[in-house]
Amino acid sequence: MRLYNGGLIITGIVVFLALATFPFYYNIGKANAKPDIKLEPAIKMSEERYGKKQCVEPKEWIRREHMVLLNHWRDAVVRDENRGYLSTDTGTRFNMSLQNECMQCHSSKKNFCDQCHNYMAVKPFCWDCHIAPTEKEEARS
Ligand code: HEC
Ligand code: HEC
Ligand code: HEC
Repeated sequence: MRLYNGGLIITGIVVFLALATFPFYYNIGKANAKPDIKLEPAIKMSEERYGKKQCVEPKEWIRREHMVLLNHWRDAVVRDENRGYLSTDTGTRFNMSLQNECMQCHSSKKNFCDQCHNYMAVKPFCWDCHIAPTEKEEARS
């Protein structure tokens, strides 16, 4: 009998804690705004250039590997003075440049790169030297 009651009390406490802390857990997601990346300018630019929506490499790959790709591009340019990159995806030739290629399509650092990086708390130091595109003041839609 005592054990049974003890179990009930503990269940009661667990339920109480779950309810009492629910607003707290619920707020965690809200306080830390989810990345809100804007792909429209990049899609528009790639459609103008290639007649279709495409990045340098497939989306899943570029999302995971863009840092590695950028390092590779930098090394190729700085060490070998080689500026041409052929997409393994489409065979399209890209110019190995952060400013003159990536940021031509992803024309806002703030609405694209920073969205994920702020969320993940990564701070690439690239912009100490490389010039980010000028942010156009546009109505947030
Ligand atoms: C020709 C225009 C173009 C260029 C140049 C370009 N991108 Fe993209 N990028 C796109 C498009 C369009 C998408 C969305 C692709 C899709 O939805 O299939 C994309 C997607 C991405 C994504 C994934 C976003 C997501 O939703 O997960 C990352 C990260 C990215 N690009 C980074 C880069 C980097 C870094 C470079 C330079 C190395 C680059 N892009 C060059 C057009 C471009
Ligand atoms: C879909 C989300 C997403 C987008 C969009 C995105 N990144 Fe990233 N980026 C990440 C994540 C996540 C990491 C950290 C990866 C890790 O630590 O392994 C990262 C890391 C990096 C790094 C390495 C930084 C370091 O200190 O290790 C560079 C450089 C970088 N991103 C450049 C860019 C550029 C330039 C753009 C815009 C053209 C961009 N990223 C857009 C998610 C994104
Ligand atoms: C201390 C200054 C400095 C920092 C920080 C820096 N770079 Fe560079 N980067 C340079 C210089 C200088 C070049 C050579 C420019 C050229 O030959 O066109 C270069 C070239 C490059 C290139 C090839 C050429 C081009 O136009 O983009 C890429 C890609 C690149 N860097 C990526 C990065 C990335 C990604 C980061 C951050 C993880 C970074 N850089 C940080 C100075 C810097």
